[in-house]
Amino acid sequence: MPHIKIDAKDAFKIENILNENPLCELPSHWLNPVEEIIDGFLPIFESIEFPMDTKIRVDGNALVGDSALNDSINAFPIRNTQKYLLQSKCKFPGIETCERYFSEIFKRSIYRTSNGVWYPRNGFMGWHTNNNLPGLRLYLTYADEMEMSFFRYMDPVTRKIITSFDKKGWALRLFCIPQDGFFWHCVYSDCNRYSLGWHMPVSSNII
Ligand SMILES: [Fe+2]
Repeated sequence: MPHIKIDAKDAFKIENILNENPLCELPSHWLNPVEEIIDGFLPIFESIEFPMDTKIRVDGNALVGDSALNDSINAFPIRNTQKYLLQSKCKFPGIETCERYFSEIFKRSIYRTSNGVWYPRNGFMGWHTNNNLPGLRLYLTYADEMEMSFFRYMDPVTRKIITSFDKKGWALRLFCIPQDGFFWHCVYSDCNRYSLGWHMPVSSNII
């Protein structure tokens, strides 16, 4: 999916944009004002040690495929999302400044939902909907290799499976967890992929 050309000053109109595009890949220049801060997150992610005993031997790629999605839909609402990742408890210096910036451009309250996740090689988060927390989701990710990791979702209207590959470097994506209906999505990585995620309640419009 190409980047959707919207200016950061129009970010607050994001719900209109998401009506047409279930996933919005935001232009990388949006990150310019916080570039130095987020570059400072990298050495923190890189200093995390992955405990050997959390490693599992499953084929992550299979768990983010079509038949895994069918299995998850059939099993719903049982939540047994399989995953292989590490959620860190790190502090990220300057993250409050980033959050203020996002809150300003989207004109919404913003709450961190993940405090820093590392997907190692063959890391993944299986198909799930997050339907317990409807609203907008913003994800800042970093991949250390070109197109070796991705965010994948099922278009809620066409039911087509769409894969959004990561380029090397930082990316900012936004999508909506609907109040009614489901936004099935998953993540796979065959490189080091780091992510931070935020929730923005739709009703928190602070214009
Ligand atoms: Fe999710």
